[in-house]
Amino acid sequence: MLSCKEEMTILAIETSCDDTGVALLEALEEGVFSVLSNVVASQIELHAQYGGVFPAMAKREHQKNLVPVFEQALRESKLLAPRLSTLNPEQVKILSSILEREPELFAQCIPFIEKYDKPNVDAIAIVNGPGLEPCLWVGVNFARALSYIWGIPLIPVNHIESHILVNFLNPAPSTLAPNMMPALSLVVSGGHTQLILMKDIGSYEIIGETRDDAAGECFDKCAKLLDLGYPGGPIISKLAADYALSPTPSLGRSPTGEATLKLPRPMMNTNDYDFSFSGLKTAVLYKWREMNKKDLPALLRKALQAGMAHEVQDAIIDVLLKKTFAAAQAHQVKTIILGGGVSANAELRRQFSENANEKGLAIAIPPAHLSTDNALMSAVNGWFHRNKKASWETLEADANLRVGN
Ligand code: KG4
Ligand code: ZN
Repeated sequence: MLSCKEEMTILAIETSCDDTGVALLEALEEGVFSVLSNVVASQIELHAQYGGVFPAMAKREHQKNLVPVFEQALRESKLLAPRLSTLNPEQVKILSSILEREPELFAQCIPFIEKYDKPNVDAIAIVNGPGLEPCLWVGVNFARALSYIWGIPLIPVNHIESHILVNFLNPAPSTLAPNMMPALSLVVSGGHTQLILMKDIGSYEIIGETRDDAAGECFDKCAKLLDLGYPGGPIISKLAADYALSPTPSLGRSPTGEATLKLPRPMMNTNDYDFSFSGLKTAVLYKWREMNKKDLPALLRKALQAGMAHEVQDAIIDVLLKKTFAAAQAHQVKTIILGGGVSANAELRRQFSENANEKGLAIAIPPAHLSTDNALMSAVNGWFHRNKKASWETLEADANLRVGN
């Protein structure tokens, strides 16, 4: 039985990578949720110039964005109440020690706290891992500061678990969960590719994962090699869809008839549930180097890029699909649960749904905007772990946090 009340308002903060997110979620009777707000400030434009996320730069952006995003989320939730007050020197001293390594955030925090009343929330769900260490600390220290000053308890949440639990936002989890277990979750993001066996919410076993690059990282790196921009997943997905509508048959074949765009499917037939994507990226590097000759006409170059994008996406999906459904069968699961940025991919969603239907398995896939990083998923996670409180004095970020074991 749950010892604390189920009806509550949860504030969630997410800064594990390059998205600054704040969400407010109201849990009503029987775990029925009402979303009050879910604000995400993306840093994509900044990182796109460099073709990837630089942790130090992302940390600076989180410091800059956190208070405005927080303010917007509270305003949208109608929880922002102006009330002028002055912090005493002792409070300022403690806040400055909590935010010692985030001076820009500290500078914005003081006027914010002095301008607004404590919002009516019951807990702060804070992502403390896994992710980019400097980024995680910005959110963790901000949450610690708010918890200290407002006396609101902290619930540390795992980012990977949040990608899974966002699927329980709707319909009501208490009615859904018992009938869908055991389940197998595939979490595919920019930093992780894991197959997680679930006996229940909160009971996890990682039964397979990538040995090198994550699936999202592979999308991103291949897009960069093909001069397509950042982040690679959505760009490749769009190009691949266009290509599938009007493929150029001659492109995929050499004059002797062999498939020139064919890429490997690393580890697809190994007798385990692990993945490897770095070889795929290397294959793209060599193939593109071979094809992208200086005198290549622009139109042909574009067609080749699209063909390669299509093949990269196919290769990644083929491997993910084969391993996931093999594991699902071996472990006799009832449900497949997808999560993480790559699960926003339309073709992946289509193929997984089709396969699950054929095999009589239930499938849960978040709406695309909740597949990628956001704080709402952390709020849902926080609700499930509402009894697991942490103190602002001791909470730490852990870049390598894992679910289960
Ligand atoms: O979960 P997420 O937002 O952040 C991490 O926790 O890493 O995932 C980001 C990853 C990026 O690698 C991005 O390219 C990929 O998700 N991604 C996609 C799509 N949208 C985002 N990959 C394939 N197809 C998409 N439509
Ligand atoms: Zn993520």
